[in-house]
Amino acid sequence: MGHVELRGLDEDDLDAIFEMMRDRSAVEMAAFTAANPDDRDAFDEWIARQRRSDEVALYVVTENGGFAGTAALFSADGDREVTYWIARHAWGRGVATEALHILVSREAERPLFARVAAHNLGSLAVLTKVGFTEVSRDIEYAPGVGRDIEEIVLVLVPALE
Ligand SMILES: CC(C)(COP(=O)(O)OP(=O)(O)OC[C@H]1O[C@@H](n2cnc3c(N)ncnc32)[C@H](O)[C@@H]1OP(=O)(O)O)[C@@H](O)C(=O)NCCC(=O)NCCS
Repeated sequence: MGHVELRGLDEDDLDAIFEMMRDRSAVEMAAFTAANPDDRDAFDEWIARQRRSDEVALYVVTENGGFAGTAALFSADGDREVTYWIARHAWGRGVATEALHILVSREAERPLFARVAAHNLGSLAVLTKVGFTEVSRDIEYAPGVGRDIEEIVLVLVPALE
């Protein structure tokens, strides 16, 4: 793995993010995604909303300075949550794990929550390595795959002193 960093997102990143988020095998893994990942207008509206929101901290993940994905903190129903997406060219060498380590170190609030499709074993491994543990499971409709999927909720609590 190269040197991983998080930086702010700018206009030039949008094409790479759109392409990354419509990679079919990635959408299958994440499942809880846009209903139509090929819809650029819907993507532009969604990402503009994220960038405007005070409750969202959206970062680009870089590996050796090059685009490698996104990572974000956001609020949902009063809970602070993490999410991340790594571009396929950077998979399998610890980039997601390092990015999530950096992300959780930038957020003071605990507990921090994460949601993952139960079949997404890679993402579950990432969360577990960073210290998240399972709190519950539900069946939810997953727009990216168009069917109900088991979703696991995980939590990161403060480390014991
Ligand atoms: C899931 C994802 C984030 C993983 O990114 P990555 O940079 O390859 O992850 P890392 O290399 O840091 O860690 C992956 C871990 O999962 C493990 N893993 C990968 N595929 C696995 C599988 N099928 N079964 C079990 N473990 C698996 C790897 O062995 C590794 O663990 P290890 O370091 O203990 O060996 C990336 O594939 C991705 O962004 N996918 C699409 C979007 C997505 O799913 N986002 C998360 C939504 S919750």
